[in-house]
Amino acid sequence: MCGIVAGRTSGAVTGTLTEALARLEYRGYDSVGVAVAQGDGTLQVRRTTARVEALVDRLAADPVGGTTGVGHTRWATHGAVTEGNAHPHADCSGRLALVHNGIITNADALRAGLRERGHVVASDVDSEVVVHLVEEALGTGLAAAVEAAVEQLTGTWALAVLDALTGELVAASHGSPLVVAEGPEGVYLASDVAAVAPWIEDFRVLEDGHVVAVGDTTTWRHGGRAAEPPPLRRCTISVAELSRELYADFMSKEIDEQPLVAARVLESWGAPAQDGSLWHGSGLPDFARVAVLGCGTSLNAGRAVAGVLGRVAGVPTQAVVASEADDWVVEPDTLVLAFSQSGETADVLRALDRVEHRGAPVVAVTNSAWSALGRRADFVMSCHAGPEIGVAATKTYTAQVLTGTCLAIAACVGTGRLARSTGRAMVADLGRVPDLVAQSIGVAMQAVPTIAAATSEASGFLFLGRGIARSYADEGALKLKELSYLWAESHASGELKHGPLALVEPGTPVVAVDDGSSRMQASLAEVRARGGDVIDIGGPGSALPALGTTGGIPGIDWCGPLESVMAMQVLARQVAVLRGRDIDKPRNLAKSVTVE
Ligand code: F6R
Repeated sequence: MCGIVAGRTSGAVTGTLTEALARLEYRGYDSVGVAVAQGDGTLQVRRTTARVEALVDRLAADPVGGTTGVGHTRWATHGAVTEGNAHPHADCSGRLALVHNGIITNADALRAGLRERGHVVASDVDSEVVVHLVEEALGTGLAAAVEAAVEQLTGTWALAVLDALTGELVAASHGSPLVVAEGPEGVYLASDVAAVAPWIEDFRVLEDGHVVAVGDTTTWRHGGRAAEPPPLRRCTISVAELSRELYADFMSKEIDEQPLVAARVLESWGAPAQDGSLWHGSGLPDFARVAVLGCGTSLNAGRAVAGVLGRVAGVPTQAVVASEADDWVVEPDTLVLAFSQSGETADVLRALDRVEHRGAPVVAVTNSAWSALGRRADFVMSCHAGPEIGVAATKTYTAQVLTGTCLAIAACVGTGRLARSTGRAMVADLGRVPDLVAQSIGVAMQAVPTIAAATSEASGFLFLGRGIARSYADEGALKLKELSYLWAESHASGELKHGPLALVEPGTPVVAVDDGSSRMQASLAEVRARGGDVIDIGGPGSALPALGTTGGIPGIDWCGPLESVMAMQVLARQVAVLRGRDIDKPRNLAKSVTVE
């Protein structure tokens, strides 16, 4: 949801900015731009509504020198996708350039005031007002001017302002992520540490209210006073993780990484889950019920974990759509499991306000332990998926399901709902997941091209599942729609006859996570009777024989066929390839949704 980067480097900065922007593009790709301070106190700005590669080409044709600059990749919220609305935005004098991620909710009132005071506010975007507010306060120095400007804002922001006259950079954050990191070649600011990972070893995360000034030295302020810097954190992201290697797109690489990710999660969380020690060490209180909270794919992962808690230990559970949580009644003794791969999703953070008000304990199940969610939670379960660059979540989903399942086992053993021996048996079962996942990917790579060729011209797809597998079908449908731009509806198979069957006509593709039950077979018979094209994901003899029994690896009944999701990921990607879609950057989407 917009990515920002800034750098003060020993050599030319534009290559650094564009390389970092390419790694931030998952946050939005409606437009991209850079501004660089020139030795004479002026700015050079390049912006385009095309992608980062186009900006690189433009800079190659029309180079920009300078060692300090800011860059931005946009996911449009306010104002159309035009070059004029692209960041960076300059003040009236052309001395300051600003990049911003977040939403300034009082921008209209501020803009009106600025215009009355004679400012030329050139764009439609909320962000531009900030650079004019900084301009008005500049007499006090850039850091104080940024502080004075942000005091007038409501909403959320991670922003960086460049002063071309002094070569100084000042950044501030409130409700949007921002890190600062120093390496041998310079100092960097970025929305995501992955953007600058190849150049640094450690980083610091700005907390709400921090203002950091990067000049000849780096200084920190908070609440109008000098402040201690936040703690240094180790960056564990490797260059290989950020590279597409020989894959056609990041999504295929990330699909393939899932067996390894699954093994990594189980190595971290399996042992402390099975004996309940993870629960005892967490300091969390006993609970009467569990609410899983999240959006999109993360909510689907949460639903799978809720299904496990209900099925194996009879724990009452509720799945809360974080973007619709305003009327959520948080019952007493609820343990909240908040699922968010980024940990920055505004809807999730807003729903947490409600939870905190009721005093319910929160566990973050996240791939970003240092994110806003991680910092607010009472306990953090890191998902260990590594950086995910494809906008459509794949490996983070699998990591969330397994991490959440380990927590569920730990909680049930730790509170005496399950015997330790049961916990041990369940973790042993989970040990088969990496092989189940690998087998599913292998089978899908063989079978999917023919299935996708036969169905990619369909106008839409139905997905069916039962029990916990319904949450897997939901995830399959979400992947298909976001990648292919075809409608995809997911239903409990038993519900088919209560309405959705009307959608089935000759050739309608119906993907079923086939648990082999007679009720599922009855639903599939109803589809076939109307000429629907059943794509059953099941055991030997099914259209997509991706489930455990096929290769002799026993499936895991109590958590349902998680491996079915990999087959659906491969199917969604292949249908999208045949329809000529941008696999890693589906239209209208962004990976980290930091607006409500
Ligand atoms: C879909 C997808 C989204 C996210 C959702 C929540 O592939 O990735 O549905 O799951 O936007 O994001 P996080 O997990 O960062 O809270």
